[in-house]
Amino acid sequence: MTCQIAVIPGDGIGKEVMEATINVLDKLDLDFNYVYGEAGDECLKKTGEALPQESIDIVKNSDACLFGAAGETAADVIVRLRQEMKMFANLRPIKSYPNTNALRDDIDFMIVRENTEGLYIADMEKLTDEGAIAKRVITKSAEKRIIKYAFDYAKKNNKSKVTGVHKANVLKKSDGLFKEIFYEVSENYPDIESEDFYVDATAMYLITNPQDFEVIVTTNLFGDILSDEGAGIVGGLGLIPSANIGENGALFEPVHGSAPDIAGKGIANPLAMMLSAVMMLRYLDENIKADKLENAILTLLNQAKVLTGDLGGSATTKEVEEEIINLL
Ligand code: NAI
Ligand code: MG
Repeated sequence: MTCQIAVIPGDGIGKEVMEATINVLDKLDLDFNYVYGEAGDECLKKTGEALPQESIDIVKNSDACLFGAAGETAADVIVRLRQEMKMFANLRPIKSYPNTNALRDDIDFMIVRENTEGLYIADMEKLTDEGAIAKRVITKSAEKRIIKYAFDYAKKNNKSKVTGVHKANVLKKSDGLFKEIFYEVSENYPDIESEDFYVDATAMYLITNPQDFEVIVTTNLFGDILSDEGAGIVGGLGLIPSANIGENGALFEPVHGSAPDIAGKGIANPLAMMLSAVMMLRYLDENIKADKLENAILTLLNQAKVLTGDLGGSATTKEVEEEIINLL
């Protein structure tokens, strides 16, 4: 059956890494129908809207979406798309690749972050006479949904352990509830080990023992912070993909932005976008082709001959695309 894929290249290097990624996907002989949508700074200038309804509809009517990057309008585009699509899970794989600045070469875990509540709820923050107050919301249904997602992910991907991360010693009611639900859900997965840590300790273990983690599940703010720590321990932005998963669709994007400092020069690293496509292929159960593309990327990194400037090489985006196609 043909899959419809929404493609939103966006601004700056978003367009460049998207073009390279679609050219690579074209060589994988997939039954995909790509429908392009506009969004971002250029779209705002041209149409008066950063995210036109037409683009939202394209994403809603597709099986999955590939998103490049937006510029200054990123919040209006990507945050709005996540809300429109009710994308409750934010997934960030933290993996060490060869010839990068990773702390160790055996890091490989997934951060599953709750994306709809916690401290990041619009209108829940207000100024008071004394200063300001923010509310942190933990609902049983949303936490159960994300914890279940993490265990299902572990099961599907042959992971043997899920770590729940919270601060239940201080946030006794809200994170006490998170911890309780975590162990309730874990009972349905007898083959998967479950453990829980406080978030501050986790921040340290990510530096001292990152190889021990397989799947981390946590609330919105903690997940946001630990995700960037994760990016740091494997050597930064250029190789980090992400996924936003909802009940009716999913969006895959590199973690980096539109990089105005290098946009238009043809030297952006397309690998974070290509690894986002790998995540999309797995989401669509195209596992063999996902492995094939990921292996080509691994070989490219191992050979270290055709690398872009951020990885210490001098190759162009186009040269990386051609080498990946060659390796496929
Ligand atoms: P950025 O990720 O665009 O760039 C940070 C630095 O990393 C720059 O020096 C850039 O050249 C480099 N870099 C990023 N991706 C690269 C790649 N694939 N290859 C080689 N080098 C790469 O973040 P920055 O500079 O904070 O933001 C620039 C614009 O992007 C802003 O307008 C911001 O709002 C937007 N942005 C959009 C995001 C999104 O659409 N999801 C996420 C982050 C920022
Ligand atoms: Mg963040």
